[in-house]
Amino acid sequence: MSIVILISGRGSNMQAILDAGLPVSAVISNKRGAAGLAIASGRGIPTAVVQGNDYGTREGFDAALAAEVARHSPAAVALAGFMRILTQRFVTRYADRLLNIHPSLLPSFTGLNTHERALAAGVKVHGCTVHFVTAELDHGPIVAQAAVPVLQGDTADELAARVLRQEHRIYPQALRWLLEGKLSVVDGLVQVKEPDAQQTLFSEQP
Ligand code: GRF
Repeated sequence: MSIVILISGRGSNMQAILDAGLPVSAVISNKRGAAGLAIASGRGIPTAVVQGNDYGTREGFDAALAAEVARHSPAAVALAGFMRILTQRFVTRYADRLLNIHPSLLPSFTGLNTHERALAAGVKVHGCTVHFVTAELDHGPIVAQAAVPVLQGDTADELAARVLRQEHRIYPQALRWLLEGKLSVVDGLVQVKEPDAQQTLFSEQP
């Protein structure tokens, strides 16, 4: 009953998952230099690199990634700042076990540069979303969201930091639910089998 975490960079969400005491059997990066790899190794977690451009095609990369993931027979696969779009084949294989954290209140601001785009749109509430992964980028049934205020004069970095603190709260919680078998998807909507499950968080005012 363990998690495989896929990263591409600094790995702060990965760290939050580890800090929450969740069972992690491996951390896999698609980038050799990802800072999160050193953090994981430092904590005794097995790491691996499946580098994107070592494979000719997306399918080739995904097959190699799937093989590496499958070695651990994970109960959950957590995308944590993993900056590659996975093939339908991979997504289907891990369909009910594959979660992602996205730095916006989906369905607003899918894709990149979410904080800059939230500021440009003038939204007053922003946040982050944990969702099941489907083949469509940043779509898929929503497990949990956390909202933060957008303050006058915020820079994208300030807003990102405010959102990131909430990412570190909701992602471990969502993964815990998944490992405990408490999540089900009915007609595209997530149900949590836990009384008073908190699927929505509101940050304390900064
Ligand atoms: C996070 O903001 C996450 O929501 C997004 O990429 C960022 C990764 O940060 N998908 P980290 O590597 O977890 O620190």
